[in-house]
Amino acid sequence: MKPIQVGLLGIGTVGSGTFNVLQRNQEEIRRRAGRGIEIAMVADLDTERARSVVGDTAKVVGDAREIIANPEIDVVIELIGGYGIAKALVLEAIAAGKHVVTANKALLAVHGSEIFKAAAEKGVMVAYEAAVAGGIPIIKALREGLTANQIQWVAGIINGTTNFILSEMRDKGLDFDVVLKEAQRLGYAEADPTFDIEGVDAAHKVTLMSAIAFGIPVQFDKAHVEGITKLSAADIKYAEQLGYRIKLLGITKRTDKGIELRVHPSLVPTKRLIANVEGAMNAVVVHGDAVGTTLYYGKGAGSEPTASAVIADLVDIARLHTADPEHRVPPLAFQSNTLVAAGGELPVLPMSEVVTSYYLRIRVADEAGVLAKITSILAGMGISIDALLQREAGEVSGDSEGSQGVPQTDLIILTHATREGDMDTALAQIQQLPTVLAPINRIRKEELN
Ligand code: HSE
Repeated sequence: MKPIQVGLLGIGTVGSGTFNVLQRNQEEIRRRAGRGIEIAMVADLDTERARSVVGDTAKVVGDAREIIANPEIDVVIELIGGYGIAKALVLEAIAAGKHVVTANKALLAVHGSEIFKAAAEKGVMVAYEAAVAGGIPIIKALREGLTANQIQWVAGIINGTTNFILSEMRDKGLDFDVVLKEAQRLGYAEADPTFDIEGVDAAHKVTLMSAIAFGIPVQFDKAHVEGITKLSAADIKYAEQLGYRIKLLGITKRTDKGIELRVHPSLVPTKRLIANVEGAMNAVVVHGDAVGTTLYYGKGAGSEPTASAVIADLVDIARLHTADPEHRVPPLAFQSNTLVAAGGELPVLPMSEVVTSYYLRIRVADEAGVLAKITSILAGMGISIDALLQREAGEVSGDSEGSQGVPQTDLIILTHATREGDMDTALAQIQQLPTVLAPINRIRKEELN
């Protein structure tokens, strides 16, 4: 059978990895796919760089629309990124009847409904294994391997940059700003790291996993997104003393009231495998009613790990190209006519309705009755304390006598599960106490059991 013809839009890190792995493993890939997979055209603004990667094996063009206009091309791989031209080209490729493979989590998390609808109308596939957790086949696992299950929750370290920064903060006892600069110097963090450090990249990825896990539309606008910029070395150290590590988690959970969809730093018990995922690695834990808890670990970014996912999608497309569209795996795992309407039976819950437990660090004047006032406010909101530490404020920060000239101490409180709205009310009251000397640090805690 004639090899499937592929057009590649953008040949940077992942594009070159895709080309190289396809070349290197072409015989095995052909045996698996049942036919060859050939990158016939490459579009990149930097045509010289493109030629230096593909030589004369593929036609190099500066204009991506030449690929879309070519009737010989069966599949378009979009590796441009972002919402702008990438969105236009993906929709044009679909309109031209081409299957699309993309690593663009931002595009799908925000415009997924429109893109999947257009693809269904045209009878083409949009595949996106590389968009979530790089080389880890988590989309395949959620969509196919776990298809028997009612998925109950998914929690993942799905941003390598922030996991690298958190690992360094813990290892070296350094604050966020210092480690970020070092990560940028070493090339682990982008010059503009906003999407990574503010949790946006992780939120794109967990939004996609949430849709697949629960059969709901992609709803990035409903995700709660918090990054790691406010974390301090002190919190990481205190968490460690209590038996926890702090990780930036993307979490989505089915509850009686609806779906939780959130990204924020979380304390995770050190004994959990995921708490020990260090450096730029990714890991995702999925809990299904039949299978129990499963863990997926690997490289979440990089040239060949991401290429591994892109090529897996190409192989799926090569196999299913001739199948009736009704009999292909649906892009969001559930048949599109069964997706639960946004805001319907399974609404994404506002953060105030999320139930979780908390780590609180409260800088207080070290005097009689302070603790009693705080615990009484917590008790008044029905919030139960799980553990409590008191530490000299100077032990970590070196300023046990603060600007007010009064002895200070840090109270570290772990709570049992409570509604976030109740915690907000309690913290607002505690913050008003004259003996509370600094903004309260609140970090959510997930037992993941
Ligand atoms: N910037 C991402 C990360 C990789 O640091 O994990 C691509 O999503």
